[in-house]
Formats: sequence, C-alpha cells, structure tokens
Amino acid sequence: MAKKPIKITEVALRDAHQSLIATRMTMDEMRPILPAMDKVGYFSVECWGGATFDACIRFLNEDPWERLRILRKEMPNTKLQMLFRGQNMLGYRHYADDAVEYFVQKSVANGIDILRIFDALNDPRNLQTSIRAAKKEGAHVQGCISYTLSPVHNNEYFANYAKTLQDMGADSICIKDMSGLLTPYSTQELVTSLKKTISIPVDIHSHYTSGLASMSILKAIESGADIIDTAISPLAMGTSHMATETLVAALKDTEYDTGLDMKQLNVVREHFAGLREKYLASGQLSPKMLGVDANTLLYQVPGGMLSNLLSQLKMMKKEDKFEEVLAEIPNVRKDCGYPPLVTPTSQIVGSQAVMNVLTGKRYAMVNKEFKGLVRGEYGSTPAPIDPAFADSILHGAERITCRPADLLQPEMEKLKAEAAQWAIQEEDALTYAMFPQVAPKFFEERAKRTQNG
Ligand code: CO
Repeated sequence: MAKKPIKITEVALRDAHQSLIATRMTMDEMRPILPAMDKVGYFSVECWGGATFDACIRFLNEDPWERLRILRKEMPNTKLQMLFRGQNMLGYRHYADDAVEYFVQKSVANGIDILRIFDALNDPRNLQTSIRAAKKEGAHVQGCISYTLSPVHNNEYFANYAKTLQDMGADSICIKDMSGLLTPYSTQELVTSLKKTISIPVDIHSHYTSGLASMSILKAIESGADIIDTAISPLAMGTSHMATETLVAALKDTEYDTGLDMKQLNVVREHFAGLREKYLASGQLSPKMLGVDANTLLYQVPGGMLSNLLSQLKMMKKEDKFEEVLAEIPNVRKDCGYPPLVTPTSQIVGSQAVMNVLTGKRYAMVNKEFKGLVRGEYGSTPAPIDPAFADSILHGAERITCRPADLLQPEMEKLKAEAAQWAIQEEDALTYAMFPQVAPKFFEERAKRTQNG
C-alpha cells in the first residue's frame, strides 16, 4: 500500500477562537501549551493574522508583533502560519504596494513561515504584490480560493483560478470554505479537478457550521487532498473546524496515517479543555456556536456573519427582521456580481441587506462600501454587474477596471512619520497603518505599562 500521509494544519490559535469567541484568546492563555504543541508534528500551526491583529490592539491590549515573537520562540520546530487578506492585509481597505511589501517583510522577519493569502473576490490582481513579496522573503505562499456557490462559480472556474495562483508562484492551494458549503460529493469533484489542473499540494479549510465538514474532508482525502485544517477538540465543531484527534484517529493505520501522536495531542487537548470551560462559564463561548446551523446552507452566510447580523439587528431593536434580512442577502449578492461572502464582502453585503429591509425599499439607502464594491474599488466581481443597476447606484461616478492598487500612491513613508511619536519598534508603523483610529490609544497604554513595570 503506497503511503500518503495527510498533513495537519492546527487552527486553535487563530481561526478556532476567531470563529468561536470573537478572537479573544490571549497570549497568557496560549503560552503554557506552546512547547507541547511544538512536539506534535503538525504541518503548520495557524496562529497569526486574520482578526487576531485587530483583537490584540483593540480588545486585549497586546502587541501583535510581540505575540508573534513569543510564538516563534516557544515553537521553534513548527511552521507558523498566518492569514493575509492580499492587498487589504489585516485591515479593511486597499493599501499601496509599498505598505504590503513592508508588512510581508516584517511578518517573515518576526517568525512567519507560511502566508495564506486570499482575496474576497478571487481577483488575482489583489494577490500579486503580496505573493511576490512573500516569495522574495523566502516564505511558503499558500494561495487561497474563497469558496462559494453561484451560477458563475463552478469547478472549471476554481481550477482556472488555482492554476493562475500556481503560475503566480503559490507553493500550495487552500480551498477556503468559510461557510461550510462543501458537500462530500462536490468536494470530491472539486479536488479531483484541482489535482488534474495543478501540481502543488491542496489544503482543505472547511468550517463545521453546516455539519458537513468531516464527510467532505474524508472525500477530499480520498480524492488527493494533501493538507487538512483541524482544531484541537475543545475548540472544534460548530462554527470552528473538524476536531484534530478525530481526523488523526480516522486515518490511523491507513495509507493516509498522519503519524501524529495521540498521547501528545491529549496533552494539548487538556489545556484547551480548561480554556473551553472558562469561556463557557464567562459566557464568551455560547453553546449556540457549537451546534449545526442549517441557515448557512440556505443563505450561504458564514457563521460569524450570522452572529454579527443578529447583534447588529438587536442593537436597533429589529431582531424580528432577522429572517427577512437573511432572505435578502442572496438578492444583494446577485446584484453585486456574486462575491463570495468573506471579510470584507460579508460585512458590505450584510449591511446593505439590513438597509434594504429596514428602509422597506431596495437601495433607497446605499452605504459607501457597497458603492465602492459596485464601482470596482475592491477589484472585479466574479460576475459582471448589470450596467443599469451600477448606474442607479453610482449616479455617474466612473467605474474602475484597473488593479485597484494601481491608483494608490506609495504611503509607507507618510505612515512612518505619523506613527513616529509613539514608535518603539519599526513594526509600530504597520500597526498604525492597519488601525489608525485604535493604534494611538494602544500605543499610549503600552507606554504606561512599560513605565509602571
Ligand atoms: Co476560516
């Protein structure tokens, strides 16, 4: 029997807590278990990027760069992986190329080995600069397909996109299924078609929201997938991912045996089981997040987006409109060219759907970001937008067809100058660049802490 060990990416330190407890795991909660995690033999540990950077400075009063250096120090034998939103990096707007290059350079210098890079619209032009920069730094580039369903998204579309990313220099491809839409047989067809088209490894990232992930993952493995994203069991399932130990046990003594040591995984499990109890007791972890949510299959909305929408409506005392808003989301998505729903398009489409329902008249009010999406500020949408609809939204504003970042002037020098008054390390200019409204307060808190202690 030919051996084909499946590689595991553990997501406990990034996506699992981002999906379950709004990214609030602290460094103090992680640190004690890092040496044990370093011994497991994971392909990689996803531990940085995504929303962790934002949460560090906004809620946890932690320096994200210091966090990365500690992760590097405590896990010297494990590849550290981050999630990177292409030209948006870890922020919510497009940045100029010089800022993207500088961020990638500093991420690798502080300890990142693998950059998982995605674009919400699957517009390869938005990945061009970050892929080139990561290759220049000698990092592994994992190019990402934002997976979704629509009349224009099919296996041929995804395979062509994966081939483009491979040609751009990607070292592996990730199918990023943020809403848990992959079904066992669609996964089989998709992975088979990718394996025929590209020669680099394929990673499956499928959230458990709809309850389908473990079936889809098994089919993916049988169809040739190479790397699977899982979360240690106390932080698995629900809006998170399949449990690591479950997959390791499922593949044991087969040609796909991961080779991971169950006893060592149990050491890791015990630590996170303690945290799970703590999060449940404090109410940070709602049991609601741990079940199957079939709404995600009906409306293709990622788990995080469901809870965000509900809390948005609750604040306006309009939670009775929840189902109506959910039903409006597919209409808005169709109008703006079927974007996959992932940051930032999930927020843009979600808020527009809320406005359409609450005003009682579609597009009577249009938010700035939705206008930007229609105008092409985020790149080209998967399907073309009906020109008459675009005109009704843009009122004559010119549409953008070039790579959006081509319209941006270099900005790093200006950002460095603005951040200089607080900076104690070069990386602070990047923290400021990501979140200029939040960073100054964080820098001031950090300075106080240093003085006091
Ligand atoms: Co995810």
